[in-house]
Amino acid sequence: MWRASVLTIFPEMFPGPLRASLAGKALMAGAWSLEVVDIRSFATDKHRTVDDTPAGGGPGMVMKADVLGRAIDAAAADTRVRLLMSPRGTPLTQARVEALSVGPGVVLVCGRFEGVDERVIAARSLEEVSIGDYVLSGGEIAAMALIDACVRLLPGVMGAPASGAEESFADGLLEYPHYTRPQLWEGRPIPGVLTSGDHGKIAAWRRAEAERLTKERRADLWARRDDRVTKPAR
Ligand SMILES: C[S@@+](CC[C@H](N)C(=O)[O-])C[C@H]1O[C@@H](n2cnc3c(N)ncnc32)[C@H](O)[C@@H]1O
Repeated sequence: MWRASVLTIFPEMFPGPLRASLAGKALMAGAWSLEVVDIRSFATDKHRTVDDTPAGGGPGMVMKADVLGRAIDAAAADTRVRLLMSPRGTPLTQARVEALSVGPGVVLVCGRFEGVDERVIAARSLEEVSIGDYVLSGGEIAAMALIDACVRLLPGVMGAPASGAEESFADGLLEYPHYTRPQLWEGRPIPGVLTSGDHGKIAAWRRAEAERLTKERRADLWARRDDRVTKPAR
């Protein structure tokens, strides 16, 4: 079973939105498991302190290496990858999500305050992962996003197997536009090709639209596709 362990000072935030919809049903069905570890329970003082002032001065607080180290040791005594949610980490991609979803699961450390003491990152081999170029107030929502993206790829979780194969980022493209009934809405018809019944033409139209949208919206993705075409893997 795919296992997610989340280390946080806000355990009450979980499962949160992961209780609903696909991920929630899969959790109830035993397709994956969630262990939430309260970092604060590894503090040793009577105030259960998890943070302290930054060495060298400056604003905010830093999560303590000793407390976090003990929490990680208790939660992650196996082969799962240990990820620290962090805005300075490697950006999370669909390819990475796919790779994580076929493994045994993840151990996710949620930072708070200014972040975590650098020494625990090195000493516990934490890999920093970002969900985007913006700063959240904590790693919990980032951890939920990562778990949700992985869980929907687990066998049997998504409705139709093809829905994953054709969606955004598969084949380096954004997904083509979708339409459904009514045929005419506020004077806007569904593109005729989609109701033609000609599956070859429909596939060609969807491909062309996916390419157009990717070129228009994501020059970075399109450039990477160009690279793949002009420099095929040897
Ligand atoms: C307020 S942020 C710390 C930001 C840090 N001082 C910096 O400038 O990089 C607190 C925590 O939120 C989480 N976080 C914030 N933005 C994130 C992002 N884009 N991706 C993943 N985690 C994020 C991290 O766990 C981080 O330690």
